[in-house]
Amino acid sequence: MSQQENGAIRLTLNGREVEAPKGRLLIDVAEEHGVFIPRFCYHPGMASVAVCRMCLVKVEGQNKLLPACATQVDDGMVVDTVEEDAVDAQRGMLEFLLINHPLDCPICDRAGECPLQDQTYKHGPGSTRYVEDKRKYEKALAISELVVLDRERCVLCWRCVRFSDEIAGDAFIQLVDRGAGTQILTFTDEPFDSYFSGNTIQICPVGALTSKPYRFVSRPWDLETAPSVCSYCSVGCPITNEQRAGKVVRCQALPNEEVNSFWICDKGRFGYHYLASEERLKTPLVRGAHDEFEATGWGAAIELLASKLKDARVGVIAGGHLTTEDAYAIGKLAKKVIKTPHVDSRLQDAGTPYERVRALAGVAGSTATFGDLDSAETIVWAGPDPKETLPVAFLRVRGAVMSGRKLIVVSARASSLDVFATEVIRTPAGGEAAALRSLTDRLTDDAVICWGPSSPGRAEDATADAAIALAAAGGRRLLVLPPHAGSQGMIDMGVLPMLDAGYKDSAETGMDTLAILEAAAAGELDVLLLFGADPIADFPDRDLARRALSSKVFTAVVEILPTESVALADVVLPAAAYAERDGTFTNLERRIQKLEALLPPPGSAMAPWRIAQRIAAALDEDWGWSDFHAVWADIKKNVTSHASVDAETLAPTRGVAGPEGGAYYDAPFLPDPGTNGSVVAGPGGQYPKGHRAGAPFQSGQNWPLSWELRSFEARQRPGFVPEATSGRLDDREGNRESPSEAEPAADADAGALQLYTGRFIYDSGAMVSRSAALLRLAKRPFVEMNSTDAARLGLAEGDLVTITSGDAAHDLELRLGDVGEGVVFVPYDQPGFKANELMTGTGRVVTVAKASAPVAAESGAQP
Ligand code: SF4
Ligand code: FES
Repeated sequence: MSQQENGAIRLTLNGREVEAPKGRLLIDVAEEHGVFIPRFCYHPGMASVAVCRMCLVKVEGQNKLLPACATQVDDGMVVDTVEEDAVDAQRGMLEFLLINHPLDCPICDRAGECPLQDQTYKHGPGSTRYVEDKRKYEKALAISELVVLDRERCVLCWRCVRFSDEIAGDAFIQLVDRGAGTQILTFTDEPFDSYFSGNTIQICPVGALTSKPYRFVSRPWDLETAPSVCSYCSVGCPITNEQRAGKVVRCQALPNEEVNSFWICDKGRFGYHYLASEERLKTPLVRGAHDEFEATGWGAAIELLASKLKDARVGVIAGGHLTTEDAYAIGKLAKKVIKTPHVDSRLQDAGTPYERVRALAGVAGSTATFGDLDSAETIVWAGPDPKETLPVAFLRVRGAVMSGRKLIVVSARASSLDVFATEVIRTPAGGEAAALRSLTDRLTDDAVICWGPSSPGRAEDATADAAIALAAAGGRRLLVLPPHAGSQGMIDMGVLPMLDAGYKDSAETGMDTLAILEAAAAGELDVLLLFGADPIADFPDRDLARRALSSKVFTAVVEILPTESVALADVVLPAAAYAERDGTFTNLERRIQKLEALLPPPGSAMAPWRIAQRIAAALDEDWGWSDFHAVWADIKKNVTSHASVDAETLAPTRGVAGPEGGAYYDAPFLPDPGTNGSVVAGPGGQYPKGHRAGAPFQSGQNWPLSWELRSFEARQRPGFVPEATSGRLDDREGNRESPSEAEPAADADAGALQLYTGRFIYDSGAMVSRSAALLRLAKRPFVEMNSTDAARLGLAEGDLVTITSGDAAHDLELRLGDVGEGVVFVPYDQPGFKANELMTGTGRVVTVAKASAPVAAESGAQP
């Protein structure tokens, strides 16, 4: 319940009268008033279990000590945390824990940031009466590619088990055995195969769970830390980057209850190795006389590019991992300096009509926040599989459902949400829009509709319109799901052919990415400018992208790493990565969050906005920006939707030093919305224009786990059909308002099916593929269809099939799965095969037939 509902109460804490919301946990109230009560099992992001008994305190009128983590404050309560019995109990608990805990701090990764170490110094007995042998286990079990377990260090606080169960919903790590033999372990022969496993390392209050990539790499006092924002997906999780000897060696979650709560995914946590890759581009390159790259200076490279840009036909394409300032600079360079309307930032999401969203509230983006998911009666999800593409959004949706929200999933392929969804609508190819329309009269006005491009290369117009109409009916809120950390910033800053910065219609509508590449391939462009964009890898037509870049067009690429597109460039300009520059990302809620430079960029690389400024200067436009604040001053002046954003008060996301020592081991403070820089400032005020404030975050909820487990088990049964799903699609077929949106009929009997794709969390993208541990986790490519379509084609699970589209064909292993009728699914970018090879033009009909050769082993990737 919220404070408003309960009102404030007064209690006495260590002799001082303090005010607190009724019902709040004593451990939190004490902390907010500067009294730290030692703890191990308590974590503000999870339900209290009170198993470690470290937080015992004296409460007047009670004949025994009470655990502060499981005691709610009440009016008139008198609490003493330093009373003799309480202190004695705390000292005794530490003496007990150290009976078995090895004092191997000199070789333990946790030393220096270990809550057990810190709290023993502060609250421990100083000596022990126990001299018996300590418990011993086989040491250093690598329970996954990312996590190492030293069981003898464990203090059985259950934090890791509870996280896996309550928050991630993938209980791979468990308490096994009982009594003195109780230990933390994964199931026999099963790795800790979770996308969120790194959170257990961060919340483990000892060195029992440690990071394999970080093991023995550094001590905390040797680290320099800067707050930042994850640069992968559009959730925009606040993180810390930590460097030693000029290399980022660790990333951890920073808590923000409004975005990521306390968590990040393993891609965000372990995907930093590319920053220190030997392959980083460090100096400008120009193509020399022998068609090979030659290093050159910035002056010469920019001068060459500027000479090509004068009076030229230019197309500009930007990628999704650049900052909001980069986006503004790219838009300004293209539209105001080069004066070309042909600029786009949609690559894998090419053609997605974000601008249509303006019909709702005048902004091309979300009108909902993550917080709104917690208060909506129903959440409708018609987007990509969030666990694979927006992992912490998956946790937010799951958390909302576990606390009582309904979830309706509309998709042509089974997703990670199905297992706890209230209703799953499995659509045939192209049936998403009709499914959304069928929900119009079934939702309450506080529903949140989540929509985003779910299958690269598929037309999204009908689904987008249906999602927007569904939100518009009843004034519901919309959560738009663009793919990458910088995607929304690009939309906001007008790096689109139809919108200028601030969601204004462009004076002249330019060509989109598809048309730009077609024009380049046809020789109708003179210069192609790519900012952090690799169309060959990411655009849903690999052949077209390759032809465009191989044509006579002069191509300049601003990049951090060599890519396939870089290999075909005429000029390469090295860019700083996110940890090497100040800036902001705008997440899918349109929340603007700041990142701080931790390291200098390699060589002479620089932030893309600086590169854009240099190109503009070479074209006689002086922007006069010296730092990112200067860029923001320009944005505020020229982009009315962002006029109220104050870069000066965009404080860095607040770092959390654990009380009693231990930087970042825990998250005892809940950030205060409005003062925390990561929460501040959207266009139009504290929250971006069009938002309603979400419901307050409730920590320590009771999760109906048994319900989910039952649901999960039910879904494992052969022949299970999700409740309320069957039959509904057929009902809707006759109600389609716009037959033209239906997919072209694919002749399934002849093996012709509609191609759907989707990204997986670990793929062969330029950044992930330079993080060895993550690349090893990437799944092998495969083809998936449902068993009915497979039977019709005479195919079976495990068959090697040839999937053909036009001139492109590839042999892949067939998997039978829960995909809609007439749908064939291929992962977009797994090691060994990129699905955009199968995409030509706008047609997405492929044929699937049995191949003859045996399945080839694929690049060491996971099955
Ligand atoms: Fe990064 Fe997205 Fe993972 Fe958050 S959920 S850590 S933003 S990739
Ligand atoms: Fe309160 Fe463990 S019993 S922190």
